[in-house]
Amino acid sequence: MNINQIKKQALSELEKIQDLLELEMFRVKYLGRKDGELTAILRSLKDLPIGKRKKIGEEANKFRQELIEMFEQKKKKISAQGESRLAGQTTKLDITAPGVKLPHGHLHPITNVLKQVEEIFGSMGFEIVEGPDIETEYYNFDALNIPDEHPARDAWNTFWLKSDKLLLRTHTSPMQARYMEKKNPPLRIIVPGRVFRYEATDDSHSHTFYQIEGLMVDKDISVANFRAVIEEFFKRFFKQDIIIRLRPSYFPFTEPSFEVDVKGGPPTGEAGKFKDWLEIMGAGMVHPNVLKAVGYVPGEWQGFAFGMGLERLAMIKYGIDDIRLFYSGDLRFLKQF
Ligand code: FA5
Repeated sequence: MNINQIKKQALSELEKIQDLLELEMFRVKYLGRKDGELTAILRSLKDLPIGKRKKIGEEANKFRQELIEMFEQKKKKISAQGESRLAGQTTKLDITAPGVKLPHGHLHPITNVLKQVEEIFGSMGFEIVEGPDIETEYYNFDALNIPDEHPARDAWNTFWLKSDKLLLRTHTSPMQARYMEKKNPPLRIIVPGRVFRYEATDDSHSHTFYQIEGLMVDKDISVANFRAVIEEFFKRFFKQDIIIRLRPSYFPFTEPSFEVDVKGGPPTGEAGKFKDWLEIMGAGMVHPNVLKAVGYVPGEWQGFAFGMGLERLAMIKYGIDDIRLFYSGDLRFLKQF
């Protein structure tokens, strides 16, 4: 390329340049010491005859000077444009401004209900203990008077682990036996925890849910004691008198056994499925075989036990008609609590 061709090309390129990076690439291309196009011409002068060398040398140097000036001007222009763009922005950095508040999370409604339950029973002298989620067949069934082949095992069908005799506990009742084996009566405990069932899920049943076990053993404990404790609990939990009913039932580990139903509707006052009775716990007097299995002398000691569904408590308290909402992870639901 001769000087005129380079000039033409350089001017048209310079016109199109928009930012400093492109401009720097332009500088390297034409004025660069190593591979710049003009530098190459100047370097080749030495091979030309003296007359030509002078003429071309002068032209090239003149053009080099012009190019440097144009480059500087363009640089100023682009920088000025950048500054005015910044000045036009409405938000400026204010390092004294207070920090932006990020949204806060909160406890899950089930956790909140659990805390309330623990507080109420704690104030009535119940100790809070916990047991393992993975349980042995013995504690989940045998120790609770449900031997192998007993039909009641079907009612608490669960997920078995590959290793022998281990399963995901179907209820918190195994802790009755585990605790009584180690401690002497009198005793009062509650056992909150997660339990698992191999069963279909619907609006009031989940395969994974929470229970709270209760156990009170002393010399003269009767169903009347159970009723008094549980009514007091409901009164404090729902913050008003609540209607309950004891319905005869069957559990291999209690005798007599019953279910406790709570009348929905108030305190939420909402219409909905649980305006009606909702079963909230199984309960009964601890079966003599369970007492024997842990080494207590039946007749000398007696007690009541219950196992209640935590989600069901929350459903009645907050007027929630579908248990699956608790585990949906849906923020529109969770943010209401
Ligand atoms: C039991 O699990 C017994 N261990 C309760 C018990 C303890 C009886 C001590 C006597 C003495 P049941 O399977 O009925 O019983 O469950 C107890 C409570 O757990 C029910 O009343 C209900 O509130 C809740 N529940 C049961 N199955 C589900 C489920 N699939 N989803 C949600 N909650 C459930």
